[in-house]
Amino acid sequence: MKSRHVPRLSAIALALCLTLPPLAATAADGTPALIPLPASIEAREGSFTLGPDTRLVVWGGDEQAVHAARDFAGLMQSSRGFTPKQGAARRGNQVEFVLDRKASLPGDEAYRLDIDDAGAKIVARAPAGLYYGAVTLWQLATADGGTGAARIDAQRIEDAPRFGWRGFMLDSARHFWSVDEVKRVLDMMAMHKLNTFHWHLTDDQGWRVEIKRYPRLTQVGGCRIPSGDAGKLPLTGAPRLYCGYYTQGQIREVVQYAAQRHITVVPEFDVPGHATAAISAYPELGTTDKLLQPSSEWGVFPNLFNVEESTFQFLENVFDEIVALFPGTYIHVGGDEAVKDQWIASPRVQERMREVGAKNEMEMQSHLIRRLERHLARHGRRLLGWDEILEGGIAPNATVMSWRGTEGGIAAAKSGHDVVMTPASHLYFDYHQTLSPNEPPGRPVQVTLEKVYGFEPVPAELTPEQHKHILGVQANLWTEHTRNFARVQHHAFPRLAAVAEIGWSPAAKRDYAGFLTRLPVQLQRYKALGIEYAKTPFEVLAKAEDERKAGTVKVALDNTLGYPIRYTTDGSEPNAQSPLYAAPVEAKLPLDIRAAAFAGNTALAPATLHRFDAVSLLTRTDEQLATCPDTGRLLLRLEDDGPAEGERAIFNVTIFYPCWLWPQADMDGIGAMKVRLGRIPYYFQLAHDEPNRRFLPAQTPNGELLVQSGGCRGPVLARQPLPADTGADGFIDVDVPVKNVAGRSDLCFTATGDTRPLMWVLDRVTLQPAK
Ligand code: ACM
Repeated sequence: MKSRHVPRLSAIALALCLTLPPLAATAADGTPALIPLPASIEAREGSFTLGPDTRLVVWGGDEQAVHAARDFAGLMQSSRGFTPKQGAARRGNQVEFVLDRKASLPGDEAYRLDIDDAGAKIVARAPAGLYYGAVTLWQLATADGGTGAARIDAQRIEDAPRFGWRGFMLDSARHFWSVDEVKRVLDMMAMHKLNTFHWHLTDDQGWRVEIKRYPRLTQVGGCRIPSGDAGKLPLTGAPRLYCGYYTQGQIREVVQYAAQRHITVVPEFDVPGHATAAISAYPELGTTDKLLQPSSEWGVFPNLFNVEESTFQFLENVFDEIVALFPGTYIHVGGDEAVKDQWIASPRVQERMREVGAKNEMEMQSHLIRRLERHLARHGRRLLGWDEILEGGIAPNATVMSWRGTEGGIAAAKSGHDVVMTPASHLYFDYHQTLSPNEPPGRPVQVTLEKVYGFEPVPAELTPEQHKHILGVQANLWTEHTRNFARVQHHAFPRLAAVAEIGWSPAAKRDYAGFLTRLPVQLQRYKALGIEYAKTPFEVLAKAEDERKAGTVKVALDNTLGYPIRYTTDGSEPNAQSPLYAAPVEAKLPLDIRAAAFAGNTALAPATLHRFDAVSLLTRTDEQLATCPDTGRLLLRLEDDGPAEGERAIFNVTIFYPCWLWPQADMDGIGAMKVRLGRIPYYFQLAHDEPNRRFLPAQTPNGELLVQSGGCRGPVLARQPLPADTGADGFIDVDVPVKNVAGRSDLCFTATGDTRPLMWVLDRVTLQPAK
C-alpha cells in the first residue's frame, strides 16, 4: 500500500544548533573517557599537547606500522581538524610508533602507550598493537570533545584485549550493502578495537558473492522482487528487482581494507537451509520439484539443499573459490534453522541417509557438515557454524557460534569445542534498544545498552580449564527490516561501544555507570566521524497521567539511560539553564514539553517535543498500545511497502495474531472512537510455527476490525467489515460508536481473517467524547 509518513505525537522536534561547551575529559575518579577501557592506566606528572606541529615517527616499521600512523592522522583530522605529519623525530613534540618484536607484551594486539612532556610513544610487538595504541591515543586526544590541539595528561597505559574474537556480523543477504558502506562498517569497527567481521553473504533472499564456476548464483540468486508495491514499477506494475552482489575483485578489496585495520573477515555461506536463492539458481541442488525464486519474504523457509554427491561437490567447489578469497582461519557454514520437512518427505533423501548411515535427518546434516569440515581442513581452514551444528553430532574440530542463548556454547565448550558467544537475547542488534516510537523497523524485544553491557561471555557453568574455549563475543545485525545504511548505524551504535568493552576490557573493570560517564565523549567522536548513532537511547520519553477532566495533565519524563533531563514548557529549546527534571510536571492543557537528556552542559540528542492536548490524551498510537494476551511471541515493527523513496509508515504488530490492547481506557463520557488502520504485505514464512498463526476467522472478504470492551473476550462494540483497499494515503479510518461503556475498560482491537498476502495493521485509536 502507498502511504505518507505521518508525524508521531512525540516526533523529534528540532536539532540543537547551539555550540556547547566541551565535556569533562575524565570521570570524577580520574578515568579518561576511553572506550573500551584499557587494562591498566597509571597517571604520571606532566602533560603533552598534540597539535598540528606534532610529528609522527615510525620506528622499525613496516608498511602496516605506517598505516597505523596514517589512520591516526586521519582520525585527528576528522575529529580535531588538523593532520599531524609523518616525519623525522623532533624532541619534545612527537608521537613515536615503535614496532619491537621482542617487547615484553602479552600478545600481538597488546601495546604500551607512554605520554610525558616530550610526547607520546606507542610500543607493540606487532602492527595490530600499534594500531590499537594509536586508537587509544586518538581517544585521549578527543576526550574533551573539542577541536584543535589537545592537551593530554602524562600517563602510562598497558593494554591487551580480554578476548581474541571481538566481532560484528552484518547481513548483506536480506539487504545489500555497497562496498563503501561495508568499508565504513570496518572503519567503525576498528575505532572500537573490534577485530572480526562476520559477513553473512547468502540466504533465502539473496546470494551475494560472485562464484566464477556457477554464474547463475548471482545472476539469478542475486535478485529478489520485494513484496507489495515496493516490488512493482509505479507506471507499468512490472517487477522492480532488488539486486546486489560483490564481485570477487570487490571481495578482495574489502578483505584487504579490513586487514589494514587488523580485522579478519569471516564469510558465511549457509547450508543446508537458508538456501532458497542458491536453489533458485540451480534447481538440481534442491529437495523440491517446485521452481523457486529468491524470496521476498522473511522467516524460516523449508528449502534445503539435497544430499546428492553432486550437491556436495557443488558446495566443495564453491568453498574452493571462497577460501581463495578469504584468507582468515574460519569459514562459517551456517547450519541454522534448517527445518527438515523436505528431507523427511523425500524418498531419495531417505535413501541417501541409509547409504551414508545417518539414522535421522539431524545426523544427515551432521554428515554434510563433517564433510565440509574435512574439505576446509584440506585448505588449512576451520569450520564454524551456528549452534544447530551440535545436533546430530558435532564435527570433530568445529567451532560453535552460540545464538539460541548460551546453552549451545556451554555444551560445546564442555565437549572441548571453541565457542563464540552471540546470544540473541543480548547481542542481536535488529532487536530494539529502547521503547521509543522513533525506533526504526525491527524487533521491539529489548536489547538495551545496559543488557549488552551486562553480558558476560564466560558462563559460570564452565570450569577454568574450559574458559579457554570461549574465543569471544560478537553482535549480529540481521537486516530483514533494515532498509538503509542509516538504520544499520542506528542499530549498531552506541551498542557496539558496549560490545567493544565486554570484548576487550578486563572483567574486573566492567562498570556500567562508568561506561555511561564515558559515553557522551564517544558520541562526540561519532559526530566528528559522521557516524549516525541511535538518538533514541538519549531521547526523553513522556507519559501522561490522564487528568483530562480537570483540564490539566501530569507528565512523567524518562530517559532510558538515566541521564539528567532538562525541559521547557514555553516553546524554547532546553539548554543547560533549563529546569532539571525531578518529579512529574503538572500543568494546564494544552501543554508542550520539550525535553533533552544532558551530560554536563551538553544535550545528548535533539530535544523531543511532547504535545499534550484534549485530543492527544484520548489517542494511543500502535506503539503506545499493548499487545493482547495470547498473541503469540512475535511482535515486530514493520514498515509499509510504499512509497518507493522517502519515509514509510511504521507499525507495531504481532504477526501470529494481529491484536492491540488499550488497557484501562477511561470511557466515561465517550460516545465514539476513530480507529485508523494501514495495510502492509504479510511477508513471513513461519515453517513449524505456522500452526501458531491464529488469525480470527473473517466473515467478509477483506476481514473486519473487531472492537471489544472489557478485554478480548468482552462484549463486541463493533465488527466493521474492511474495504478492498485503503485510501490514497495508505490508511482508512473506521468510526465505531460506543454505547453502554463507562468507567475503565480494556479495549481490544483485532484484525480478523487470513488476508494474506496483505494484513491490516492498527495505526492509532482516538476516543471521542459524546456530543
Ligand atoms: C540465526 O539467527 N538464525 C543464526
